[in-house]
Amino acid sequence: MMSVETEISFKLNGRDVRLKVPVVMKTLAMLRDRLGLTGTKYACGEGECGACTVSVDGKTVNSCLMYAVDCDGREVVTIEGLRTPQSMHPVQQAFVDCGAVQCGFCMPGMIMQAHYLLENNPDLTREEARRGLEGNLCRCTGYTKVLDAVEAVAGTSGAQR
Ligand code: FES
Ligand code: FES
Repeated sequence: MMSVETEISFKLNGRDVRLKVPVVMKTLAMLRDRLGLTGTKYACGEGECGACTVSVDGKTVNSCLMYAVDCDGREVVTIEGLRTPQSMHPVQQAFVDCGAVQCGFCMPGMIMQAHYLLENNPDLTREEARRGLEGNLCRCTGYTKVLDAVEAVAGTSGAQR
């Protein structure tokens, strides 16, 4: 069967991208298989775990559910886009400093969601962080250190985020 492709263009981690994608392709597959951005993880593939979380126009989405063609004209940020060439993003650094990373598989999605929550509420409480991260499942950490990390960033007055 012939797969129908369409051309899309969008901003990805600050750069303009133009490519042809099958109309049935999901954003996660495009990022990982076509654009080599393997930081975003595939786990459930059904919108249940948050491992595939990316930012689209400033809001987090499950990229395993979103069609790649729907990225057209949008601004997409993945975990690779958070850090600068010089250093990790403060949210990433806090996860490391607090020992919140175990196997790490959930972490790109968890950090994208934590970043989104902190961007929208710099004074996020631990309870708000817990609720905001409910869609991001982790099999390793028990979440305590994840919440410590988010709380550490929320408590850093005047820090760059
Ligand atoms: S892989 Fe997308 S939500 Fe689980
Ligand atoms: S650190 Fe292993 S799944 Fe979260």
